[in-house]
Amino acid sequence: MPPSVAICAPLVGGVESVISDRYELRVHRGEVLGDERAVSDFIGDADAAITLLFNPVGETVLRSCPALRVVANCAVGFDNIDLDSARSRQLWVTNTPDVLTDATADLTLALILATTRRIVEADRFLRAGRFDGWKLDMMLGRGLQSKTLGIVGFGRIGRAVAQRALSFGMRVVWTDTSSVVEYDLPAERLDLDQLLRCSDVVSLHCPLTDSNRHLLDEERMRKLPSGAFVINTARGPLVDEQALVRLLKEGILGGAGLDVYESEPSVEAELLDREDVVLLPHIGSATEETRTAMAKLAVDNVVAVLEGHDPPTPVVRPTLR
Ligand code: GLV
Repeated sequence: MPPSVAICAPLVGGVESVISDRYELRVHRGEVLGDERAVSDFIGDADAAITLLFNPVGETVLRSCPALRVVANCAVGFDNIDLDSARSRQLWVTNTPDVLTDATADLTLALILATTRRIVEADRFLRAGRFDGWKLDMMLGRGLQSKTLGIVGFGRIGRAVAQRALSFGMRVVWTDTSSVVEYDLPAERLDLDQLLRCSDVVSLHCPLTDSNRHLLDEERMRKLPSGAFVINTARGPLVDEQALVRLLKEGILGGAGLDVYESEPSVEAELLDREDVVLLPHIGSATEETRTAMAKLAVDNVVAVLEGHDPPTPVVRPTLR
């Protein structure tokens, strides 16, 4: 019997055939597998699983799917997977880094521009028939030149955002929990507190962990300069959405650009009513090229493990081999 692979949601770019040509393949095409029971019922006795960021893979799944050798997440983030359980079960866990860096950094800049230049609001304004001629004081936004961008998390995506922001004439400051960060950019490292106090725009690019939920809570966001913008293309729970709404209402913040939400896919109702926020449906990596490359990398990870090789982009590797 060939090994079997369970793909928890359809992939793109026709890459599933790489699996079906060699192994037994099952693809889930129905309602999202959004809880562990549904995920484990689907994966069952498969040898490998490709998961997406909305498929929780915790101890329940790993206990109920004893044949699993690899969980290949089709995302750079892996906060949906319990890495400790995977480690203790001697599994491979893989992700899809690098291939989505540019697309996510581009979208971050799009959100920075959309919020500071009121692009979505201006589009709504025109479509509502309110554009009755050019005026000197119409739809004034904020310029980026000489403003400070504070990047929280200076990994691959954070650095790609820095590169782009520098070309817009921004000053870039950054913070990271890692003590060693290699970079070659005119950008200054600060601690989080210092960064918040000087950032006209703050953008999050760190992974979500057990210890950084609400990294941007009310107290921290109050440290930002008046009228600052908050951009989040990382993970929703990094920002306290209720506090964000309060600070927008009070006029302490100038706006927010969000691609991710605390309780995705639902979005805080008060955000939906606001003109000073731009809300996107988690499309950071959503280009045809990037999503195809992500799917291909997830498949390559699975094939490598099933053929007895090390996968190209491991997050967790079995120690007893
Ligand atoms: C998307 O959010 C990802 O982690 O790839």
